Parts: sequence; C-alpha cells; structure tokens
Amino acid sequence: MEEKYIDKIKEFSYGKTYTVLTMGCQLNENDGEKISGMLECAGYTKTSDLSKADVIVFNTCCVRENAEDKLFGKLGEVKKYKEQKGTIIAIGGCMMQEEHIVKKIKTSYPFVDVIFGTHTLQNFLKDLYNAIIENKKIEDILDIDGEVIEGLPVAREDKIKASVSIMNGCNNFCTYCIVPYVRGRERSRNPQDIYDEVLLLAKKGYKEITLLGQNVNSYLVSERAKNKDLSYKVEKENGEKEEVYSFATLLRLLNSIEGIERIRFISPHPKDFTTDVIEAIRDCKKVCKLIHLPLQSGSTEVLKAMNRKYTKENFLSLVEKIQKEIPDIEFSTDIIVGFPGETEEDFTNTLDVVSKVKFEQIYMFIYSRRVGTVADKMENQIPEEIKHSRFNRLKELAEKIIAEKNTEYVGKVIDILVEGKSKTNDNMYTGRTETNKVVNFEGTDENIGKIVKVKIVSEHMWYLKGKII
Ligand code: 5AD
Ligand code: SF4
Repeated sequence: MEEKYIDKIKEFSYGKTYTVLTMGCQLNENDGEKISGMLECAGYTKTSDLSKADVIVFNTCCVRENAEDKLFGKLGEVKKYKEQKGTIIAIGGCMMQEEHIVKKIKTSYPFVDVIFGTHTLQNFLKDLYNAIIENKKIEDILDIDGEVIEGLPVAREDKIKASVSIMNGCNNFCTYCIVPYVRGRERSRNPQDIYDEVLLLAKKGYKEITLLGQNVNSYLVSERAKNKDLSYKVEKENGEKEEVYSFATLLRLLNSIEGIERIRFISPHPKDFTTDVIEAIRDCKKVCKLIHLPLQSGSTEVLKAMNRKYTKENFLSLVEKIQKEIPDIEFSTDIIVGFPGETEEDFTNTLDVVSKVKFEQIYMFIYSRRVGTVADKMENQIPEEIKHSRFNRLKELAEKIIAEKNTEYVGKVIDILVEGKSKTNDNMYTGRTETNKVVNFEGTDENIGKIVKVKIVSEHMWYLKGKII
C-alpha cells in the first residue's frame, strides 16, 4: 500500500463514510476487511446505510451465477445515490478478473468510478484518490499472479473469531470452477508473517482463527516444487525457532500460540490430505475436530469429469483413515448437484456417500455454468428442473441426518466458545461447539469470548439449547 495516499485522502475524508459490500466466501470476506482497513486508515468511518455512504465498495465473487445477479441488482440501486449526491462507487474482487463482466459494467453501468481486481487490492487507496481528485474512471486489473502482499491494514468484523489467509490461488482446475482463472496460481505466505499475525490476534484477545486458502493442504507445496529443501525457521515469541515446511508443521506452530483456543481451516482438497496433516490434527489440542472435506460428488465418473483426481472409494477410505486416527472427528462438506452428464445413478452415489459419512454440515450448490471453464463447454448440461429436484432430495437427506445427529448431542456436556448475545432473545447467549454447532443458553456478558461448559438440554434443527454448568 502506498502510504502517501493515506495522508492525501485524509485531507478531505474527515466526517465521510464508507460501506463495503462483500459477497462470497471467507477469503473474500478477508479481502473485504482489508478494504475496510485501508479506508479507515485514510479517515473514513463505516456506515451500513448505503444512502448515506460517501464511498460504496462492492467486493465481488464469481463462483456461482447468483452472485452476478446480486451485484447487478445492487448497482441499479446505488445509481440513484450517485446521481443524487455523487457517491463514489468502486467494484473489486473476483468478478473483476472476468473480461466479459468488466465490459458489461463499462457499457451498462458507466457511472462506476473504480474497477479493481484481486491482484491490485493494495492499490485501492491510490485508485480511489485518482478517481476522486482527477474525476477519472479508473480500471486497475492485472492478469498475472500478484505477489503476496503483506502489511495491509485490516478492520476486523469480529472481536473473538478472525480469519487469516495462508495462501492465494489454486492450481487444480476443477472443471466447474472459475477460481484458478481469477485468483491465479498457488502462492503461500511466509510462515513468519502468518505466525506474527496470529500472535497479534491472540494478544488482542481473539480466541479462534480460521486459516484460509483455496487448497490449504498445498501450503508451501508450489514453493517446495521449485526448491525441495525449502524450510523456514520461524522465530517464536519465546525466542525459540520452529521449522515450518508444510501445512502440518504450520498447524503445529500455530497450536503453540498462547491465548488462541481454536484453530479451523478451509478448505483442504481430499487428494492432498496427507498423513502428516491427519497426525497434526490429532496431536494439536486447539485444532477443531471438524474437518471440512469437499466431496463435490459421490460418483467416480462425475469426479473424473470434474478433474477432482479421487474416486468415491478414495474419499470413503480417506474418511475411514481419519476416523481411525481421530475417533471423535466430524466432517462437513461441499456438494454440487447437476454437474454436466450427472445421471440418476451418479446422483445416487452422492446420496450414498452422504449416508455413509453422516456429515455435520453440507454446503449444497446447484451447478452453475461459468464462462471460460471446461465444464461450461460440455454438451450434456442438466435441465434446471432435474438439478432442482436433486438439490431438494439431497437437502432432505442432509436434514434427516443433521436431525439424527442433533439428538446425539442431548445430555452431553460440551465446551462452547461464547460469541455474544442471542439476536432474538435478550436473556440468551450464543456460542459454538468445536463441531461448529450453534448452542443457545442463559448466561451473562462475563461469558462472552470464553470457553464454557454447557449441558445440552434440547435440540432444534439449526441450533441446540444448553444449560451452563
Ligand atoms: N457451480 C456450483 N458450485 C460451485 N462451486 C464452485 N464452482 C461452482 C459452480 N460452477 C462450489 C464448490 C466449492 C464451493 C466453494 O463452491 O462446491 O467447493
Ligand atoms: Fe475451485 Fe477446485 Fe481450486 Fe477449489 S480446488 S478453488 S473447487 S479449482
């Protein structure tokens, strides 16, 4: 980030407000917190009232089509603010790395002031300044993989849980996925920078961190492919040095940071889930015993067409291997229904894996065609009504399993990390189990930010009720 723009913008930002609207995944939310951080450094304050904001930033996602519809709908809405009071409108994020979208914005929404991409986030204040001072339309998009940028300010949304990105990009090219085209190839952050960031979070009182990356268990793999002896000696707070050369060693390092109570990570790729990672999860007390393991499909044929590089059997034996090593482990997953060519038999295989693994949580997606991907060119696209009917069948099965699993919680005493007051009931507080289930209980402000023991007294579809003990 070019520091001089902070002072230049401060000359006129006093009393001015901003809104950042982030769509999509946690990685994008993490970028959104950096955009907010830069704006706050430059003197703007946050508002959630779009009509009052002086700067509106859209931080976009392009993984599925509904995010596009949402952006264009919102752009229609903010046009009137632009006309009424000259609001500055900026759009960044993954969608801006797609040429056809940028073209559409320039022709249909010419009032947009700044368009920036995923590799130019660090230029945001400079772009904003030039748009305001020179009254120019700015387009700042790079097609190449950007460097890993350190040191951007972050305005975090939460005071207890924080996300920390450990790598950018993806090398896998699953045939349905746009991410490798818009986020570039895998680049890992230096483990010392990650350690220092988590240490600072711990000192600020954060209790839970989620490590983010498109494929976290490839951490440092691309770097080691260029230099197989690559390893970092990370200097810890107590002066000791610890060696980090993989995702497993990174987990072990972060597990030693005092104050952090829970470590989560999303997402690993099943094909890269090595034994050392399983052992690190087993050994590290703070690493939550819930693994998000994206299945995508339970059919070996569909998985092949998706370029996922594992079979139904590989997935099931990986689950079994992890369960053997870590008996209390639970899983969550991502599943796409209606991938091109998916037959009834393929879909039944997906239901079969879901019944066998009994995931705690399933993020279900209807396959969405993405321009530029291999699957978009496949001829055997599935009709919308079949996609929707399969989606509903999967949802029904998933909910049946969740309800069954919920009943197993009743009567158990469980640790929960208390996040705050319930939004719907003033006497109630809310927290989460290690397996990410919401638990509501009667508590006090004292409980917030602490791990407390509760006895689960009843279960409801999307939350459990507990009694503090
Ligand atoms: N259509 C539907 N779902 C998709 N995902 C990625 N690309 C698509 C697409 N084209 C889902 C995958 C991934 C999650 C983040 O989004 O399940 O794991
Ligand atoms: Fe997309 Fe596959 Fe990479 Fe995930 S692993 S970001 S689904 S290409």
